[in-house]
Amino acid sequence: MQKDNIFDQKAKTWDDNPERIKLVDKVWETISANIDFNKIHHAIDYGSGTGLLGFKAINYVESMTFCDTSDGMLDQVNNKIQYYGHLNAETLKADFSNGPLPSKKFELIMTMLVMHHVHELGTILANFNKLLKPGGYISIIDLENEDGSFHSDNTGVAYFGFHKQEIINLIEKNGFKIDYYSNHLYMNKERPEGNKQFPLFVLIARKEG
Ligand SMILES: C[S@@+](CC[C@H](N)C(=O)[O-])C[C@H]1O[C@@H](n2cnc3c(N)ncnc32)[C@H](O)[C@@H]1O
Repeated sequence: MQKDNIFDQKAKTWDDNPERIKLVDKVWETISANIDFNKIHHAIDYGSGTGLLGFKAINYVESMTFCDTSDGMLDQVNNKIQYYGHLNAETLKADFSNGPLPSKKFELIMTMLVMHHVHELGTILANFNKLLKPGGYISIIDLENEDGSFHSDNTGVAYFGFHKQEIINLIEKNGFKIDYYSNHLYMNKERPEGNKQFPLFVLIARKEG
């Protein structure tokens, strides 16, 4: 509950961080180079925040569902949908680690910097699998293992990033085949000891079957 309040408070200024905007550009470059969007009709930006990643992809899909647990974040997405007049976008307040799933099926679920906030990782990956059509993709962008200094306050943080093999094992265990993994991206943050680089991974996996 408190986690949602934290993101509600951050929503209005979320897009003001130029590091974040640059990072999303690079993430989109990587995803769009490694997923054939001709095959993607219905997609989810899960833990969308203000929708930075989902709006990159919106012109390449029939529908984009922006899903988050924070009303403040979803308000920002709704403002953008209205402002730009997107007819193929919808917002959904939901937690797929603990709650009902939509009946609609998707070809892609993208989720950026969300999984380290989710305690029930196995449940959420199993539910992503249920929501995808056979051959559908998940794309997870998150922190590699870090020392706990990425967040200035670790309230609502479930994991200090992930070890490559641990996250790969968990994803494979939940019915996915890994297509792509790279850790060439990072996010810069000012910390008391100076500027610090936090490596991120981009993982793309496909639902088996
Ligand atoms: C660090 S922000 C990332 C936002 C966006 N993906 C980005 O990269 O700009 C994490 C987002 O995940 C959402 N979130 C946290 N736990 C969630 C959950 N269990 N289900 C859905 N969204 C969640 C938060 O509300 C927040 O908007």
